Formats: sequence, C-alpha cells, structure tokens
Amino acid sequence: MSDDSRIESVLSEQRVFDPPADFAERCGGAWVESMEVYRELHEASVEDPENFWGAIANELDWFEPWTSVLDWDAPDAKWFVNGKINACYNCVDRLINMGHGDQAALIWEGEPVGEEGPEVRTLTYRELHAEVCRFANGLKSLGVERGDIVTIYMGMVPELTIAVLACARIGAPHSVIFGGFSAAAIADRVEDAKSETIITCDGAWRRGSVVPLKANVDEAMKSTDHVKNVVVLRRCNNEIDMHVGRDHFWSDLVEDQSDECPCEPMDSEDMLFLLYTSGSTGKPKGIMHTTGGYLVHTYLTSRYTFNLRPGQDHVYWCTADVGWITGHSYIIYGILQNHVPTLMYEGAPNHPDPDRFWEIVDRHKVTHFYTAPTAIRAFMKWGEEHPRKHDLSSLCVLGTVGEPINPEAWMWYHRVIGHERCPIVDTWWQTETGGHMITPLPAATPAVPGSCTLPFLGIDAAVVDKEGHELNPNEGGLLVVRKPWPSMLRGIYGDRQRFIDTYFSTVEGMYFAGDSARRDDRGYFWIMGRMDDVINVSGHRLGTMEVESALVSHDAVVEAAVVGMPHEIKGTGIAAFCSLSPAYQADDHLRDVLREHVAKEIGAIAKPDMIRFTDALPKTRSGKIMRRLLRDIAAGKESTGDMTTLEDFSVIASLRGDEE
Ligand code: WTA
Repeated sequence: MSDDSRIESVLSEQRVFDPPADFAERCGGAWVESMEVYRELHEASVEDPENFWGAIANELDWFEPWTSVLDWDAPDAKWFVNGKINACYNCVDRLINMGHGDQAALIWEGEPVGEEGPEVRTLTYRELHAEVCRFANGLKSLGVERGDIVTIYMGMVPELTIAVLACARIGAPHSVIFGGFSAAAIADRVEDAKSETIITCDGAWRRGSVVPLKANVDEAMKSTDHVKNVVVLRRCNNEIDMHVGRDHFWSDLVEDQSDECPCEPMDSEDMLFLLYTSGSTGKPKGIMHTTGGYLVHTYLTSRYTFNLRPGQDHVYWCTADVGWITGHSYIIYGILQNHVPTLMYEGAPNHPDPDRFWEIVDRHKVTHFYTAPTAIRAFMKWGEEHPRKHDLSSLCVLGTVGEPINPEAWMWYHRVIGHERCPIVDTWWQTETGGHMITPLPAATPAVPGSCTLPFLGIDAAVVDKEGHELNPNEGGLLVVRKPWPSMLRGIYGDRQRFIDTYFSTVEGMYFAGDSARRDDRGYFWIMGRMDDVINVSGHRLGTMEVESALVSHDAVVEAAVVGMPHEIKGTGIAAFCSLSPAYQADDHLRDVLREHVAKEIGAIAKPDMIRFTDALPKTRSGKIMRRLLRDIAAGKESTGDMTTLEDFSVIASLRGDEE
C-alpha cells in the first residue's frame, strides 16, 4: 500500500465558522437546525439504523412494502428487503401525483452564446415525464429489456438525464461513461458490462469546440462486437457516419412513441446502475448500485446536506458531469426526488469568459451551488473581478466535493462567492458510497475550513488502526464505516473477490474507504489522502496503474511509473517516469506523443503533467518500484521541464538511504 498524493492537512487550522444566524430565514427554514438536534438524531440513527432509514423510506412511493429494512451479512447488505420500487417513478411521477407537474424539474443552459444569449430549456415534471416515456418506449422498440445494461456516452444535455431516467423506468441498468473518456475506455467498459446498446450524441460542446462523441463510439466499436444498437442525439450537427441497421437517430426513435410508459416494479436490490471508477489495478471497476437504498439515501442527503426546501423558489446547481457519481446522485436522483429544480450546464466554466458560472448563478437565481475544489482554485487564479461582476445574492448554500479543500480555497469561496453569509458543506463520499457520508449540515454544524466535519445521520464513520481500534484525536489512520448504509455499493460487476479484497479485507468486518484520515479534538474528520494507488486529479479519480499501462502500450516505453505530484489547480497532477526502448529518442517531441497516446487510451484527463525519461526506474532489492522516491522527485520539479536528463535513480536512492 502506498500513500500517493497524501495531503498534509493543516493541523493549525483554528478558525470556526458558525452557521449564519439568519440562515434559516434566508433559506426558507432548516431541516436540522442546531448541533443539539444533529447530535440527538445522529446518535439515535446509528443506534437503530433500521428504524431511522425505514421512516425516511416511507416518504417515497413503493409498489410493494419491504418485509424488513436491513439484512446484513458482511460484506453483503440488502436494504428494504422484498420492497418493490422504481427510481424514475420517485423522481418524476411521484412529484406529478403530489401536484407539482407544472413546476420546473430541470433547467438546462447550453454552452454556445449567440446574439440572444445562450440556449435555455426548462422541463416541468410533466414535460420530463413525457420525454422520458417516449424515449423509454423507443428503447423498448429496439428490444431493450429489463436487466439489459445500457451504455450512455453523451454530453451534458437534457437528453442525458432523460436517457438515464428512461433506463430506470424500464429496469435497464445504465452505465454512464464520462464524455471525456476515449474510444478505448468505452470499448473496455462495454465489454465488461456486455452492453448491447449505446446512447450517444453526434458531438458535445466544450469550450467552443466539438468533442466528436459519435466518432469515438465508432472507433470503440472496432474493438468490441457486443453492441447491436447505437442511438444518436443530434446536438452539434457535426459530420458523422451512420451505420445502417445499427445506428438510429434519437429523433426518429421517439417520433411515433407514446408519452405513457409504465414503470417496471423493481426489487429494492435490483441493479439501478453501474458506474466505472478507478482502483489500484489497471482495470476500472464497475461499481454496482441497487434501487431502493440508493434512492432513500440520495433523497435524504440531498434534502439535509443542502437544506433543500421544496416550495421556496430554490434552484440547485451542481457543476459536476453526470458521468461521475456526483452527477448521478446530486444532479439527477437525489435532487429530482426533492422537488427542487436541478440546473444542468453544458460546457466549460470559462467559456466564452471566465465569469460564465457567475453569470449562470445570476441569470437563474441559483440558491444552492455545488462544485469541486479544483474549480474554486481555478476561479481564484482567474481573479475576483469575474464573480464581482454579477449579483450572487440568491446563493444560500455552497458545497464542495471530490478532494480535500485547502483552507485558502475555502476562505475564498466563503468570502468571494458566499459573501460570508453562506454555509459551506464540504462533503466527503465516494462512487462506492453512493451518497454523502461525512459532511456539515448547513444550519447546524460549525465549519472549520479543510475539514468535512461529522458523519451524516445514520453513518458510523471512524478512524481506526488495522485491528479496527479507534484512534486517539489527531492520530492518522484508516477511514472506515462500521455499519452498512442504504446506498453502499453492492459489489464490483463480475468480480466478487475484488469487492471483498478492496473494501472488506483491510479491517475485519468494516468498509475501508481507501482514504487515510484523522479526527481532531472536536471529533471532526480531516481527510489526509488516498492510501492505494489512486490519485485524485482535479477531483477525478485515476489509477496510477491505468496511466502506466497506457504508457507502456506505446512502443517507445519499456517501463513506466506514475505518481501524483502537487499541482496548484488540480490538487494532484500526474508525474510519469518512463524508461525507453533504445530505438526512441528522449525528447520533447516524444513527450507530446506520449501525452497524446495516454489521452487516446484513457482520456484527456489522464495526460501526464510531467514526463521524465530515465535509464531505469529505481527499485528495491525485491524489485518494487520506489514510489516514495519518485514522488519526492516529482514534488521538487513541478514544471514539465525541457530537460531530458537520464538520472541514475539508484545512486540518489542509495545516497538518501531509501529502501521502501
Ligand atoms: C476524495 C467523489 C476530501 C476521497 C464523490 C475519496 C474527498 C475520493 C472529498 C472519491 C472531500 C471526495 N474531502 N476528499 N470532501 N470528497 N474525496 O469516487 O479520496 O470520484 O475516496 O467520488 O475522492 O472519489 P469519487
């Protein structure tokens, strides 16, 4: 186990920010209004999780009630056993039945800005219902059935949400692939999921140019023959090839479809979706989430963490991409269930200008804003003048997710965006946890910049040693969750052993998150970093071994080692050390070639920030790459540099007396 990208948390951080006194008034009331209430609820919920979660689940619509709330046989959890429920029904139909059919469910803003401003679309719950039903019927007409895994590879358009909900409606688990991933990444995921249907777009707008999504799918299809149908949404009108028999335009597919489509009554434990994420090995893992528990957990966390108050003219905006878990849980499922409009923005934060996000907040009177520390650091760099140009007074809750937030970025967010009157919720969670696990509650929890504070209701998080003993304040250890929670992963698709090894073997009987952490004197959690070979680049998870395999798949590279290095904006950048085949020249040209090669194999997010060429990688006597040494070297030389020095690492290592 290595401690790649370990973030030293700031032990000296002493500033405490109490929830603003007028918060409840500005935000239309508060669900959890004080620390006393939080403590009481937390204690009771952890003591009797079944009672707690059962009561919340009763707020949703079930076709058939559950017979017991929890069946736990570590590592296997079943929540709401035998209950029958549909995710789309609870996100759409339920709200229509409650009388909210004509209210906005989804607000969307496109990236291009024409003379009359950007394109904006608003879908009410009723309109969303009709679109979802038509598309669900379209999928059925292609032969998609309950249980078939449907791959979705689209840009951030309303049809992405429509496609996700349509799959949920007919009981076909979706596997959304982030639009920034490459053809090779699509092929791997399609093969692993044995997916026969892909939904894509001709292209996606990104910073004024078109990302050729359909062409990437075509390329991926060369290395897999699982796919029978590709549905293509026209968005950018870029030139594309259509393969007769296989490819169908979205518009043709829905043309004659009815706008009624019954919801499949799914078992609580039927798979709702697969989402691939990076782990310690080169192969991304398909994290499986099921229906009932996931809905209950995302419903409650959305409501309490953000203090969403239906009927208060709230507009909630999460800037993540639906291709990541944050988008699944907190653009779509958790938010729609809460009857607060969810805003989706198609493009880049700095297109056409660096004030685009603040213009959106102002234009749509956004009340809840959820983003990643990496974005905040970029805004800091671009300058305060951009947010200052806009009226941000509608904001009442700010959130962050994806990586530890450095106190400087926290303070900037608080001051420049929140005008010192918006609580910041620093939410710790993972693809595997499905929903928030450790987070402040905006009206209750005093915040300390850089700490994700305290466990959510019903969550029994702890910092322990390998034997599972809780550590003393300020001692670093393993971050675990001791009791099951409703939205926990149910497995890794097709790899039972990896599921057990990764999450339930490090500390007996407990879920191990892969992060190290400590708790301070107040009991607040401070995330220190990943303990496996995963790095967090701009809040996106990447396995160092994935990048290494991409590098060695190029003829020039004999051996590669990839480590994280500090990066001003990304939090962690990617440093690659490569030894080359003698036929290749170690120069800048090759650096560019290799960076492009990694982009082709994985996606642009995985491009190394620094590539160093070396005769040989430093290794221990037993042949293990000395990653700590590489991390030190990478941390010392932040620039990509133009030097092609071939360093004799073993000499450095022996000088320093390193032996990992
Ligand atoms: C990191 C994203 C510190 C952590 C929802 C975790 C965080 C990994 C925070 C999961 C936070 C996420 N503070 N670290 N508030 N949120 N992380 O699966 O290392 O993309 O294990 O899920 O991101 O990343 P994932």
